[in-house]
Amino acid sequence: MALINRRMLLITGGATAVATAGAGTLAWWPGTASATQPWSDAGKGLGDPRLDALAYAILAPNPHNRQPWQYRLVGDDRVDMTCDLARRLPQTDPFDRQIVVGFGCMLELFVMAAAAKGYSCEVTLWPDGEPQPRLDARRVASVRLIANAAQPPDPLFAHALARRSTKEVYGAQAVTPDVLVQLIGSAVTDGVVAGGSVDAESVLVLRKLTWDAWMVEYRDAAMRRESIDLMRIGNAEIVANPDGIELGGLFMGLGKMTGMITRETLDTPGTTAFQQGIDMFKPIMESAKGHVWLITPGNSRAEQIAAGRRWVRMNLQSQALGVAIHPLSQALQEVKVMAGPYAQLHERLGARDGAVVQMLARIGYAPFPEPTPRWPLKTHLVAA
Ligand SMILES: Cc1cc2nc3c(=O)[nH]c(=O)nc-3n(C[C@H](O)[C@H](O)[C@H](O)COP(=O)(O)O)c2cc1C
Repeated sequence: MALINRRMLLITGGATAVATAGAGTLAWWPGTASATQPWSDAGKGLGDPRLDALAYAILAPNPHNRQPWQYRLVGDDRVDMTCDLARRLPQTDPFDRQIVVGFGCMLELFVMAAAAKGYSCEVTLWPDGEPQPRLDARRVASVRLIANAAQPPDPLFAHALARRSTKEVYGAQAVTPDVLVQLIGSAVTDGVVAGGSVDAESVLVLRKLTWDAWMVEYRDAAMRRESIDLMRIGNAEIVANPDGIELGGLFMGLGKMTGMITRETLDTPGTTAFQQGIDMFKPIMESAKGHVWLITPGNSRAEQIAAGRRWVRMNLQSQALGVAIHPLSQALQEVKVMAGPYAQLHERLGARDGAVVQMLARIGYAPFPEPTPRWPLKTHLVAA
């Protein structure tokens, strides 16, 4: 079959599985509703404004959806935030830069959710000092809630439950310069440069650069293995571990049942599953209709947090505008094999003299996906 694609192949395999296993076998296949329950729970009201804000904060975008947040409720108005160090990504994010950007996203959502309930936040970043070159047990932030009837709500917060990272093939519709300006405008702040382009030449250059970087990661055994280990293949795995990279749905389940989709086949160059990874992602990257990025003058932990806070705002604004957005971090990885794409990207975007591209994403139009899984809030709470 010349035009075979991942889904077609799985349907073929699935049909075999249905025929041999029979419908009864499928009945135990669990859905993934429990894995997305935190999206329904946010906004329910938990009797403590800190928990109410945290219920939204845990819905933040974050690398590989590892959700490394740990929260300590201190006294009656403070939350101390630390990183679950086991949830970092040592191969693709060796200095925890992306993990800290994710903390920035989470913190911004926390502040917005608190404002919606009439609280302002006193945020102290890195109260015990900035950990370098990797994170450690020290606090990322300590946040105090202060009742403030005059606290204005943040209009972007209205999109918190609809926000998505949209990792689909984008349709033919172009993103206009006017929309791009509105998108970038949402992320303008002191200390973070927001940029973007929908110019045809730039789109072609960045499509190629992001694809080349994706292939560098895919060909690197250690980086590939890190992602494969975090794949949740089939609904049962997603429900058991509502984090990582979810490959759910009936077709994935059937592919798994027939043995076509296993961690080993995905990790073995030359197998159909390995090639399908490439065949699936290439059209995704090539369908970009533009790109957006965030640059900071340096690479301090505070700047990484600032970039994350801006990123989630851009993501919320994209939702408000109906624009799909998809972070592509491969070319930003501080690893030896990525040195070429990293340097090319920084040169291309004018990030010089120590400036760092903290986020890069493609934009376009596509139906928005379902929300991604989340661990329940209670699993992030640690004893004071
Ligand atoms: C710092 C950062 C880096 C990310 N890098 C990538 C990436 O390289 N590829 C990708 O598909 N998604 C990337 N994402 C998106 C996450 O995978 C996504 O936020 C997570 O899976 C949760 O999904 P959601 O944003 O739809 O809630 C990144 C997100 C953040 C905050």
